[in-house]
Amino acid sequence: MNQPVSGFSKKTKAEKIEWLAENYLQNNPNSIQILKDYWNEDASLQQLHDDFIENTLSNYYLPFGIAPNFLINKKLYALPMVIEESSVVAAASNAAKFWFERGGFKAEVISTDKNGQIHLNFYGKEKSLETFFEEIKPKLRESIQSIEKNMKARGGGLLELSLVDKSHILEGYFYIHATFETLDAMGANFINSCLEKMAQVFENEARNSEVFQKENTFPEVVMSILSNYVPECLVRAEVSCKIDELTTKHHDGKQFAEKFVRAIEIAKTETRRAVTHNKGIMNGIDAVVLATGNDFRAVEAGVHAYAAKNNYYGSLTHAKIEGDTFTFWIELPLAIGTIGGLTSLHPLTKLAFEILQKPNAKELMKIIAVAGLAQNFAAVRSLVTTGIQKGHMKMHLMNIMNQMQATKDEKNKALVYFKENAISHSSVEAFLKELRS
Ligand code: MEV
Repeated sequence: MNQPVSGFSKKTKAEKIEWLAENYLQNNPNSIQILKDYWNEDASLQQLHDDFIENTLSNYYLPFGIAPNFLINKKLYALPMVIEESSVVAAASNAAKFWFERGGFKAEVISTDKNGQIHLNFYGKEKSLETFFEEIKPKLRESIQSIEKNMKARGGGLLELSLVDKSHILEGYFYIHATFETLDAMGANFINSCLEKMAQVFENEARNSEVFQKENTFPEVVMSILSNYVPECLVRAEVSCKIDELTTKHHDGKQFAEKFVRAIEIAKTETRRAVTHNKGIMNGIDAVVLATGNDFRAVEAGVHAYAAKNNYYGSLTHAKIEGDTFTFWIELPLAIGTIGGLTSLHPLTKLAFEILQKPNAKELMKIIAVAGLAQNFAAVRSLVTTGIQKGHMKMHLMNIMNQMQATKDEKNKALVYFKENAISHSSVEAFLKELRS
């Protein structure tokens, strides 16, 4: 198979599958059936999924679960979570219950500005570019009037335009920095349309500018695109309680709080720990972002860049003990939407919004931040007490049993047996072997 295929997207779904089976899956007689097994019986629902991307052959299922008992700003939520990792929903539910009994989560949106840039090359006099930019600014704003109309009517739109000189870092590099309020939309399409339109006007006007003509150097647009780095679109979530209230039958409150704060300090200082620590936070965040049809890659990219904003990569969560009070909080950027994109297309996404009682974007930012904080609390609590493997392997037991094609009866027996015994791949294998012999 060394020849490229041409016109692939024009083939029918059946032709694409046939092509794939012939060229890449010759050794698997079941390949076509596997793809078909995941088709939806409802043809119109299948068509909806087919149309999300190009060359759809089948659907890829992930579990859609629920973590109840999240008390956020005194309102009780059940969080829809889409994730494949066995222990995540269980951990979120545990943390939610734990904090429900201690007053719940508080969350607030700090800011909501999004941004994008028109990246420029300019090798002339900086002053000329600055003067031209100030002159042209009203025209740039005017040029996006029709794109902005609906957004503006709802109270959003373009906020500010400024020229940024980066030529000291990269010769000839400047950009126009644009900030936006996109309300309940994530805003990627809106921002990109505005930027592309302004870039076009900018370049045209520059060509007609007498100053640039006289100097015979013109600014050139390299590209126009939103930024997924949104440190001005911030949310904060927090839990706090008296240290005594952290005492459980398993640990003393003071010792636990001190060890917990130490674990956060380690994640703030050491990148090797911080990345795993933040990965645990993203377990919760991505799961709700996915369930609500938002762009988890954008969220991931922006969040990790924020974790490195002080020129080293550190923890997104913070913890302190002040007097007799333990406080644990997260602050992170989240550009998400509750309208547009997949949010109103995917039936399960629509259902997720109903479960969340139809939040607006600000409310959803708070819910997602809480999911991250809860997930991190559950992970760090396990790490500084029992270790994570106990809970992890308990949840993973079913995966191992399924891999070994265990029957329902075998699964039930395993659940009883492994309450008292350590779970590992080999111990489950040995248990099944014994049971089957
Ligand atoms: C596993 O998915 C996530 C953890 O490793 C997070 C952490 O170490 O904090 C448990």
